[in-house]
Amino acid sequence: MSVSDAALAAPADLPALPHWDEPPADLEEAVRETKAAIRARIAASGRSVEEVFAVVEARVRSAVEEIEAATARGEEIWPVVDYAEVEAGTVSADLLAALRRRGCLVVRGHFPREQALAWDTDIVDYVEGNGFFEDYRGPGDDFFGSVGSKPEIYPVYWSPAQMEARQSERMATVQRFLNAQWTHESGGTTWFDPDRDSLYPDRIRRRPPGADSGGLGTHLDPGTLDLWMTEDYQRAFRHLFDGSVEEYDPWDAAHRTAGPQYPGSTMCSAFRTFQGWTALSDMDHDQGVLHTVPIPEAMAYLMLRPLLDDVPQGDMCGVTTNQVFPATQQWHELLLRAVSGIPDVRAGDSVWWHCDMIHGVDPVTDQRGWGNVMYIPAAPWCPRNEVYAASVREAFATGNSPTDFPAEDYERLWPNRFQPEQLNPTGLRGLGLA
Ligand SMILES: [Fe+2]
Repeated sequence: MSVSDAALAAPADLPALPHWDEPPADLEEAVRETKAAIRARIAASGRSVEEVFAVVEARVRSAVEEIEAATARGEEIWPVVDYAEVEAGTVSADLLAALRRRGCLVVRGHFPREQALAWDTDIVDYVEGNGFFEDYRGPGDDFFGSVGSKPEIYPVYWSPAQMEARQSERMATVQRFLNAQWTHESGGTTWFDPDRDSLYPDRIRRRPPGADSGGLGTHLDPGTLDLWMTEDYQRAFRHLFDGSVEEYDPWDAAHRTAGPQYPGSTMCSAFRTFQGWTALSDMDHDQGVLHTVPIPEAMAYLMLRPLLDDVPQGDMCGVTTNQVFPATQQWHELLLRAVSGIPDVRAGDSVWWHCDMIHGVDPVTDQRGWGNVMYIPAAPWCPRNEVYAASVREAFATGNSPTDFPAEDYERLWPNRFQPEQLNPTGLRGLGLA
């Protein structure tokens, strides 16, 4: 162990945690074992789980109350910045502080409005010209599939419009800015490269005027039981499990960018600093839009809450493999008081939220206007994303769906999907080809 590793490690006299790099066969027993071991480890630090949790709860409660008060005063909760300021490097210290405090951001005019509207039209031409609606076989996964039977989520990954946005200089500029909010180097290790993104292909949502949508319940995306059970995540969340909770930093990428993940139907193989989407239509704040719990530190609450005595021993507050990580009134009532929606956005604006934050989509009936977005996250180059990039290259070459998504593979024979010779230097680097 190097000096730097020692600096990141917990005191040597604390009991070790059991860990599983693949989902354990007996989940309930593994949950029991993990919880008992974390409790013992925290106790060995001289504090109780209840004491440690009380510290987290007090911090989160003050953030929740601050958000409730700001909402009551009619203030906007989501920080908003103009793209021009990001590009010029003139984002104010106040705005940066707000981004760190809230963990989310709207970038106004990330792309010119006409550009975003043209991409939206191009996507329609692309799917219609290739007979997508005649071929459509219904939702390919349970989670987004619950939204409705009409395709709101298009399992389309390789349109010229999506690829142009992903490899654009404007996208790279915002991703660099967002990645830089994280600590990407510590103890002599570079955990990721903030200046290079891996190109993470995701889908399109197009929700038409008049649509009724049940929305998506509040949830988290970074993992499920693996967050407590793999060695890497245990190291990433070390301060939550060793009694030094005051040192937990939601912006610290240490040990987050190389470890394994438990497979699941809604998994993301990539490490994302922020999740995000780019608006391809104007959307009003009350038309079934994205909401978050804009408190990055809430992750500490989510990770420690299952250790309290009122949660059954074999239960992680409902978190289990192959299902999305739920945030519920039963266990997270305090956090859900802070759920805050995005402001009105226009085509070309982009929306971003810290990868560990609770989020959901509001239901809507008889939607006004379109609700169209292109999902593009900030997923900086790191060992985990380099591994995934190999399967992305394969999917790009064949026109298949990327392996994080159901194997619907609609675009295999579509002749006008984005071609390798159209990749620019950013696209090539994002795929690990340069
Ligand atoms: Fe999600």
